[in-house]
Amino acid sequence: MQKYLQKAITNQLTRASLAHFGQQLKPPVRVAITGAAGQIGYSLIFRVASGEMLGPNQPVILHLIDLPFAMTALNGVVMEIQDCAFPLVQGIVATDNQQVGFKDVNYALLVGAKPRGPGMERGDLLKDNGKIFTETGKYINDHASRDIKVVVVGNPCNTNCLILANQIKDIPKENFTAMTRLDHNRAQHQLADKLGVHTSDIRKIAIFGNHSPTMVPYIDQMTAKNHKATVDQQWVTQTFIPTVQQRGAEIIKARKLSSAASAGNAAMNHITTWVNGTAEGDYTSMAIPSDGSYGVPKGLIFSFPVTVKNGKYSIVQGLPISPFYQGLLDKTIKELVDERIAVDHLLK
Ligand code: NAD
Ligand code: LMR
Repeated sequence: MQKYLQKAITNQLTRASLAHFGQQLKPPVRVAITGAAGQIGYSLIFRVASGEMLGPNQPVILHLIDLPFAMTALNGVVMEIQDCAFPLVQGIVATDNQQVGFKDVNYALLVGAKPRGPGMERGDLLKDNGKIFTETGKYINDHASRDIKVVVVGNPCNTNCLILANQIKDIPKENFTAMTRLDHNRAQHQLADKLGVHTSDIRKIAIFGNHSPTMVPYIDQMTAKNHKATVDQQWVTQTFIPTVQQRGAEIIKARKLSSAASAGNAAMNHITTWVNGTAEGDYTSMAIPSDGSYGVPKGLIFSFPVTVKNGKYSIVQGLPISPFYQGLLDKTIKELVDERIAVDHLLK
């Protein structure tokens, strides 16, 4: 077993041979993925390695982290990465040791956690998964690069991120985020389908709140093909909102496993947008530490509409909130406040 651990594998492809492709390469960055031997890991790692997340000029050193029992499987993933001969992969660290795993890491996709099964809510995972993030927070604080950007995927992702961020002493709190991009993408698909346009034509929508059935898909400012677009309110309340809120459970029912490829895709989208910015006139959804905007208690990890520029996100202010949406916001705020109370012992 030991031979799999803390193994740094230097890819034989040198910067000189990459230059052969005519690319102006940036210095490599270190990308950590926890739960690397799991199903999201398998759908995510190869796309990150190919350059899809950080671009074709950005070499990566992959830090693949999982639990000791998963090291044999992880070694299989490492062999497959090697067998892809990815031009952008400059090294692989495969480990069950978080000190090694998070050393000098610039980006962390925190997937490692238990998924829910049929009939469970994501909040039911808090007891098992919450404590993972206390430990991970300490390792990130002590070993990661000070500019690290983190997205928590493992559920319940908002409150896991809260637990994680609480351990951080000397990295800015705004570098710790959780993923609601999957919900955003799901909403975009439902709306495009309803309006008969392409998903990329749907803009100015957002997810507020928790990644849970109380999430609030907000569409009052939606545009389709750059024009204000509306859909009938009955469809919104009876079909659209419940479909987006329950999509994860529907996928579990159908696959007997939770979403993996779409989740990995959304995690990559989250980081890509955080690095490259949002399109002019559009926004995205990220769960971030609340600054009190929209009456959300400060410090909760809450999904907001955000614009991103130069690697920094800003909450979109002043969106009109109807009494209908305010009612939904109050519910998701209450759920996150209750989750925070439930993990109070992990926040000391
Ligand atoms: P999986 O069971 O296939 O894989 C999880 C992996 O994490 C396993 O290999 C396991 O050994 C590893 N792991 C567990 N604890 C760890 C730790 N402390 N450190 C490192 N690795 C650890 O599960 P999956 O389908 O990949 O899902 C992972 C998580 O992502 C689940 O909590 C799931 O609910 C969540 N998820 C979130 C979203 C979202 O939108 N936020 C979407 C889909 C799934
Ligand atoms: C999802 O939304 O697909 C994930 O959070 C997995 C789940 O438990 O629903």
